[in-house]
Amino acid sequence: MSTVSDFKPGLEGVVAVETDIMEPDREGGTLRYRGIDVEPLIGKYPYENVWGLLVDDDLESVMPAPEPYEPAGLTGRAPSDLQAQTARLSGLWKLGKLNEISDEQAREDLGRISAQMMSIVAQSARMADGHIDQVPDDVVAKGKTAAEKFLLKWRGEADPAAVRAIDTYWVCTAEHGVNGSTFTARVVASTGADCGAALSAAVGALSGPLHGGAPAYVKPMLDEVEAMGDPEKWVSDALDAGQRIMGFGHRVYRAEDPRSRILKQTARELGSPQIAIAERLEAAALAELERRKPDRPLKTNVEYYSALVLDVAQVPPPLAPAMFACSRVAGWSAHILEQKQRGRLFRPSARYTGPVNRSL
Ligand code: ACO
Repeated sequence: MSTVSDFKPGLEGVVAVETDIMEPDREGGTLRYRGIDVEPLIGKYPYENVWGLLVDDDLESVMPAPEPYEPAGLTGRAPSDLQAQTARLSGLWKLGKLNEISDEQAREDLGRISAQMMSIVAQSARMADGHIDQVPDDVVAKGKTAAEKFLLKWRGEADPAAVRAIDTYWVCTAEHGVNGSTFTARVVASTGADCGAALSAAVGALSGPLHGGAPAYVKPMLDEVEAMGDPEKWVSDALDAGQRIMGFGHRVYRAEDPRSRILKQTARELGSPQIAIAERLEAAALAELERRKPDRPLKTNVEYYSALVLDVAQVPPPLAPAMFACSRVAGWSAHILEQKQRGRLFRPSARYTGPVNRSL
């Protein structure tokens, strides 16, 4: 017999799935993928192995390299290019419906699409930079890691600091439980749709500023605070005007997001030119948010220092959501596969609050 539970706006606190992949530790502290702490993985295993850990529970299994493919009709505006092109791959590659294909076939589809999604973002970024040509495949093939291949596909060269910045960022943000985009991927997968449909829907969900879009706002915010020179006043004015400080607060964490700690350290080590102003703004924001919202811990989230790390790799702010999508292909793929293996069709209920019995 099914029961209807209380309405929870935003499904906060509602357990919607059981998962073996990961679940954030609310009190901060650690972040584990399939039970493995993320921090020691950084610099030891590149992103493509972390994809294997999340999807196959095997660090020696890797996401494949992207197949040669030139997407038609790119606009140079990611992540909409990514969303559209990912959906297009379903038709182009004649992908099977998840309820009709084997787990092995789904895993293969997810690997192919994940790799291609990175290549699509690189090509969209190249177009945004004003290039109309493609970097030859033999140049891209020289890249040893997914991050190196990505940069080669985008710029034709891969600066080692940029490779490290992107790889660290991707590893830190590869998976984070049932957030908006991952939930979307699972909902679409639960209907039996193909992997391209589930992944492109996830990209759409990630593109909003309350989820994956925040780093696009953090860098301009830092530029503004730097020019003004008074972080305390900037924070106070912004909050008085009813604005949210981008890169702070989280639906799950009530303490410092462990990814923020790792990325802050990386930004320092890679010599981010804005680390000093970022730390000053962080201190001012934390103090003022605590003063104004003593009952709601609002701490630094992953997006804040992500913006600095991506800046070291000279990723322009508008590209940040698509960079986040590149990293999340691992988590999304793992959840789509898990949903296929043991999930149930999602069909929550709504409580009707509209008028009753209106006359025509
Ligand atoms: N700055 C100022 N106030 C904030 C912030 C913030 N960054 N975040 C939350 N608040 C306030 C809200 O105004 C609200 O106040 P109220 O109760 O007086 O209305 C209270 O804190 C609770 O906010 P909610 O929106 O209920 O918190 P929720 O858990 O839904 O939001 C979210 C989480 C969306 C991340 C929010 O903290 C936010 O908007 N942060 C800024 C955007 C951001 O950094 N996004 C990236 C998130 S990380 C990720 O997705 C990977």
